[in-house]
Amino acid sequence: MKRSRIKAIIEEGAVGSEVIVCGWVRTFRNNQFIALNDGSTIKTLQCVVDRDATPEDLLKRISTGAALRMTGKIIASQGQGQSIELQVAELKILGDSDAEKYPLQPKRHSLEFLRDIAHLRMRTNTFSAVFRIRHAAAFAIHEFFNKRGFVYIHSPIVTGSDAEGAGEMFQVTTLDLNDTPKTEEGKVDFKKDFFGKATNLTVSGQLEAELGALALSDVYTFAPTFRAENSNTSRHLAEFWMIEPEIAFADIHDDMDLAEDMLKYIIQYVLDNCNDDLEFLENRLIGEEKNKPQNERSPMPLREKLKFCLEESYERLTYTEAIRILMNSKPNKKKKFQFVIEEWGADLQSEHERYLVEKHFKKPVILIDYPKDIKAFYMRLNDDEKTVAAMDILFPGIGEIVGGSQREERLDVLKRRMTDFDIPHEEMDWFLDTRRFGTCPHAGFGLGFERMIMFVTGMANIRDVIPFPRFPGSAEF
Ligand code: 4AD
Ligand code: MG
Repeated sequence: MKRSRIKAIIEEGAVGSEVIVCGWVRTFRNNQFIALNDGSTIKTLQCVVDRDATPEDLLKRISTGAALRMTGKIIASQGQGQSIELQVAELKILGDSDAEKYPLQPKRHSLEFLRDIAHLRMRTNTFSAVFRIRHAAAFAIHEFFNKRGFVYIHSPIVTGSDAEGAGEMFQVTTLDLNDTPKTEEGKVDFKKDFFGKATNLTVSGQLEAELGALALSDVYTFAPTFRAENSNTSRHLAEFWMIEPEIAFADIHDDMDLAEDMLKYIIQYVLDNCNDDLEFLENRLIGEEKNKPQNERSPMPLREKLKFCLEESYERLTYTEAIRILMNSKPNKKKKFQFVIEEWGADLQSEHERYLVEKHFKKPVILIDYPKDIKAFYMRLNDDEKTVAAMDILFPGIGEIVGGSQREERLDVLKRRMTDFDIPHEEMDWFLDTRRFGTCPHAGFGLGFERMIMFVTGMANIRDVIPFPRFPGSAEF
């Protein structure tokens, strides 16, 4: 007989069947009732041991965190809180857990404390729910693109280029940093490095996705990306996962349609497949917000918020229109924003994005046509020569969740833009080849996977939606 997962046992409710279950003890009450969890569901299986027939020393070893294997019969439960339970016939301790020393006690721990013991936090209800949802969302993304005939491209992790041109890269080298080889000019001689040139961890798979799209039409990447930006915020990681579709023969409107469809698909999938976990996280949030002042609480419970973002079509407007709204807004006039908007051309901060979404439109917003100077070199120059065909999607509680654009497909304009940004043409010759040979209108975007997981789980800190977060000063585990 094989072991059954607790999720299957509870869903099937097979009273009378003999089963084997394995899992970890959450609580043990009365020397009799074990709440067992195996991670397959947020729910625990109540396992009832015959305390008179079980040796004293074995009972003592059934402690929070211990791993057990039990066989027995599923019966209708006499107690409250569950409809079935396991009548334990045989119990084996697979791994003891010293109750005195085990860091996870059967009580509520703060998220900050759990971040310090991230090697154990997946054993809590909150984190197991978050990571099951993270899995479901990843699966939904692959399913979405697969159904639409997109090809999954594996973009490289180590590269010689800076896709965003922002210089926020982690260097990759095997040179001895205490004794680097030097060129005649006294600079580090990267010709002697492992790859024969300077390399870094990728900040985005976009440029390689563009190469794919100009051959396979519709592609996407789903890969880790790295940014050495010194942003110690609740929305930034130094290592995060990004989904980057790239579509040929498409413009910025096709790009927005694709992004909106994808976001809604992910939300729908999570609603359809993760209800128990969502319910748990929703109640967790409600409990947490009880201590907050009314105006800081979320306007809707988690699942209602998710459904709301499914039903509404996202507000689409230009950067210029958004700036007008922001300049006329109360917090701007009263100088309540940390960064007061003085003029057209200002970069939008997360406080402005959230004002537009949460206060003004009260739904997700897609902003297009940003000033060319605050966006990346590869975005298509609009006819006004002042703006580019960029698009950012802003979500409630998150701010920017997607960033994308129609790409500059005209060789001469792209070269001009690269010169403006001081990007050496020789290093990007391979990229320019796509514009030399069979160039075509194309577009794409990047979804920050962790920001999406924050949104669907309601978790407030991005460090709590990736198993092992990397941020300035921290790369534990
Ligand atoms: O806006 P970004 O920088 O766009 C790009 O990288 C483009 N190459 C995407 C493309 O067009 N293919 O990043 C895209 C998204 C952001 O909207 C945000 O959700 C997320 O990636 N993101 C981060 N998430 C976590 N930590 C960080 N440091 C992030 N930086 C960006
Ligand atoms: Mg962006």
